[in-house]
Amino acid sequence: MELREILKRRKSVRAFQQQPVPSEALDRILESARHAPSAGFTQGNEYLVLDTPAPVEEFWNLIDDPDEPMTSEQRAVLAPVVILPLANRQAYLDRYSQPDKIAAGMDTAERWPAPYWDIDAGMASMLMLLAAIDEGLAAYFFGMAYGERAVLHRFSVPTDFKPIGVIALGYAAATDPNAALSSTRRRQHRPIETLIHRNGW
Ligand SMILES: Cc1cc2nc3c(=O)[nH]c(=O)nc-3n(C[C@H](O)[C@H](O)[C@H](O)COP(=O)(O)O)c2cc1C
Repeated sequence: MELREILKRRKSVRAFQQQPVPSEALDRILESARHAPSAGFTQGNEYLVLDTPAPVEEFWNLIDDPDEPMTSEQRAVLAPVVILPLANRQAYLDRYSQPDKIAAGMDTAERWPAPYWDIDAGMASMLMLLAAIDEGLAAYFFGMAYGERAVLHRFSVPTDFKPIGVIALGYAAATDPNAALSSTRRRQHRPIETLIHRNGW
């Protein structure tokens, strides 16, 4: 698919068919993360991928907030694949302590203008979201508002790694019981001329 077409199609899809994602398609999506840029070519971030029914179901149970549990309609359209992009701050500090980077003065976290470990995880996430569309799949990115610690513990994620969010993907369901959750129901895309400050503000 042309990149222009992929960009046009990109949107958050939050309801999925209960059908597995072919492993070759998932492999190609994951491979796209390797092509993301990374500060100092650190490539410090890693990914927890849940792609078989039992762990995926455990994941959804762990992040289900008992104060606001999912409805049966929402449960029926949960994504069959979940990817946690995990930022590793220490890997970046170590990289920027190496001889070719030490002069940048970024060997401690306070010296960074922005947390590049998180930025890099976001860059890789975007590539995976786009690659999913190229595979005829749908996806969305969301934050774990509940259960993050339990998820990291259950899947033995080392303490250096912090998830920046979650990518859920699969084949789009015909209807979406979560549609009301989308801010796109209430907000429009900002017109381009309000975003761009060409050659100055
Ligand atoms: C950093 C980030 C966090 C997000 N968190 C959530 C979330 O917790 N739950 C959710 O349903 N969508 C989440 N989204 C998706 C946004 O709501 C969505 O991108 C936005 O409403 C625009 O819609 P679109 O992606 O369909 O264009 C998040 C997106 C980003 C980039």
